[in-house]
Amino acid sequence: MSQDEKAPQGPESIMQMLQGLQVSGILSAGIALDVFSQLAPAALSAENLATRIHCPPRSTRILLDSLAALGLVTKSGPLYGLAPVADQFLVQGKPTYIGGLTSIFSSTILWTGFQRFADAVKNDGTILPEHAETPRNAFWEEFAKGSAAMAGPAAQVLDTLVSGFITSRPKVRVLDIAAGSGIYGYTLVRHPNVELTSLDWPNVIAETKQWGARLGVDPARTRYIEGNLFDVEYGGPYDLVLLSHVYHHFDRATCLGLTQKVAKALAPGGRVAVQDMIVDDELSNAGAVLFAAVMLAWTRKGETYSERDYKQWLTDAGLVWGGAHLSAGMPSSWVFADKRR
Ligand SMILES: C[S@@+](CC[C@H](N)C(=O)[O-])C[C@H]1O[C@@H](n2cnc3c(N)ncnc32)[C@H](O)[C@@H]1O
Repeated sequence: MSQDEKAPQGPESIMQMLQGLQVSGILSAGIALDVFSQLAPAALSAENLATRIHCPPRSTRILLDSLAALGLVTKSGPLYGLAPVADQFLVQGKPTYIGGLTSIFSSTILWTGFQRFADAVKNDGTILPEHAETPRNAFWEEFAKGSAAMAGPAAQVLDTLVSGFITSRPKVRVLDIAAGSGIYGYTLVRHPNVELTSLDWPNVIAETKQWGARLGVDPARTRYIEGNLFDVEYGGPYDLVLLSHVYHHFDRATCLGLTQKVAKALAPGGRVAVQDMIVDDELSNAGAVLFAAVMLAWTRKGETYSERDYKQWLTDAGLVWGGAHLSAGMPSSWVFADKRR
C-alpha cells in the first residue's frame, strides 16, 4: 500500500485515532467482566447478563451497546449475542482464546506510558520509574502468563524452521534466553533428543515452570537459570540458542554485546535463532514500526531494528548469517546464524 493510500482521510479518521483509548478500554472491560464467555451458550438481555456479571443493568447495557458498535456483539431485539470473531477468540476455555492479552496490550504500564508519550519523546526514553529493565518487574510475570496466544503459533513456525537441524543431530542442547512463558523451548523439547535450559528473572521462571507443568513437559528434560541475562553464566556449550523478543529492549551496543555473549556459549556448528519485529526503510511492517513506540514508552533505549542490524551484530560476533524468515500473519520474523565447526 502506498503512503498516500494509508493517509488518513478527513477529520473523522483523526478523531477516531484520538479515541483509540476508548476502544481498548471498552474491549478490556468486556474481557475483564467475562461478558463474551457469558454470552457464548445463548444470547441474553442486558438485565440477565447484568445479574450474571454482578453489575448494574444500565451500565451493562451501555457496555453491551458499545461492544455491539465495535462489531463484537450482536443485538436482536432485547437480546445480545456473540459476533463470530468474539465467539472464536474471546470465550474462555476455547483453545483460540486470546483475552489474556489484555494484561499485555492494555496493561497499566502501557496506559501510563502512552498517557505521557510526549514526555518519553522529549526524554529519548521511558519516563516510567518501573520499566522494562527494572529487575524482577512484575509485568514480566503477567507477560509470561498472558503471552501464550502469541507464543504458541510462533513456536510452531520455529519448530518447522529448525526441525531439520534438530533431527540431523543425536543430541541438541537448547538455551532459551528470556524465556517468558517458555513455550518456544517447550515446543522444541517435544523432540526426544532435545535438552532444554530456560533463562529469565527468578519471578518469571516461576511462571515458566507453571507453563511447563501445564504443557506436560518432563521436568527431567528441562533446566532453569534464574537471573539477569547480562550477568549470569550461560554454561553450555549449546547447540541452539533462542532469543525471542529480547533485542528490542536494548540499544545497539547492548545488542552487540549480548550477541557476542551468546556466540561464546554456542558449540561449534551451533545455531542462534532470534525472533523480533523487523523494520525496513520503507516502513512496510506497520506493526513493527508502531512497536518501536511501545519500546520508547517503556524502555530506556529500546526500539525495533532492521534485518541489516541483526546481520551486522551476528556477523560481528563471528557467526555466519543464515537469513530471515517472516512468520506468516505475524509482525515478527526469525533470523538465524551459525557458528563455524
Ligand atoms: C517480551 S518478553 C519475551 C518472552 C519470550 N521470549 C517470548 O518471546 O514470548 C521479554 C522477556 O525478557 C525477560 N528479560 C528482560 N530483561 C531481562 C534480563 N535483564 N534478564 C533476564 N530476563 C530478562 C523478561 O522477564 C521477559 O520474560
